[in-house]
Amino acid sequence: MDQVAVTGAEGFIGSHLVEALVRRGHRVRAMVLYNMFSSHGWLEVLEPAIRDQVDVVFGDVRDPGSVRQVVEGAAVVYHLAALGSVPYSYSAPRSFVDTNAVGTSSVSAPVTFTAPLPPPTSVPATPSVVGCTFTT
Ligand SMILES: NC(=O)c1ccc[n+]([C@@H]2O[C@H](COP(=O)([O-])OP(=O)(O)OC[C@H]3O[C@@H](n4cnc5c(N)ncnc54)[C@H](O)[C@@H]3O)[C@@H](O)[C@H]2O)c1
Repeated sequence: MDQVAVTGAEGFIGSHLVEALVRRGHRVRAMVLYNMFSSHGWLEVLEPAIRDQVDVVFGDVRDPGSVRQVVEGAAVVYHLAALGSVPYSYSAPRSFVDTNAVGTSSVSAPVTFTAPLPPPTSVPATPSVVGCTFTT
């Protein structure tokens, strides 16, 4: 089956998506934002049999080199890494721009620069940045 990549894999939606992708037979590379506990977030509550099949890579969507390591070779990239709290965005707006705008640009760049632009995939809009899917 195809290699796929998921950013924000340790988050609420990302972890469920990772589980569903593994169950469907995909090889999943999961980007998890590094933290001092080396926690894999919600991925840690998945069944061990599922978790063991996930290639977890610590990374940061604001860092293009880090993004490249995760998306390289992936047929599909599910981009769910984001800062989603609207109230917190008023306290630290720059971090939201860096993660949600610059980060999304970093994730889409290696995909769109190495392959013809795919047809746009529907992205539901909310006040915060919502998950995106890029195909190669
Ligand atoms: N949960 C919902 O009900 C809902 C509804 C509509 C849209 N969305 C959107 O879907 C996406 C995912 O939502 P969620 O609920 O899973 O959020 P979440 O906060 O649980 O997951 C987001 C993940 O992104 C990671 N992340 C943050 N900054 C990062 C960075 N710089 N580099 C790499 N990873 C980083 C966080 O560590 C986190 O695990 C978000 O864009 C959100 O706005 C969610």
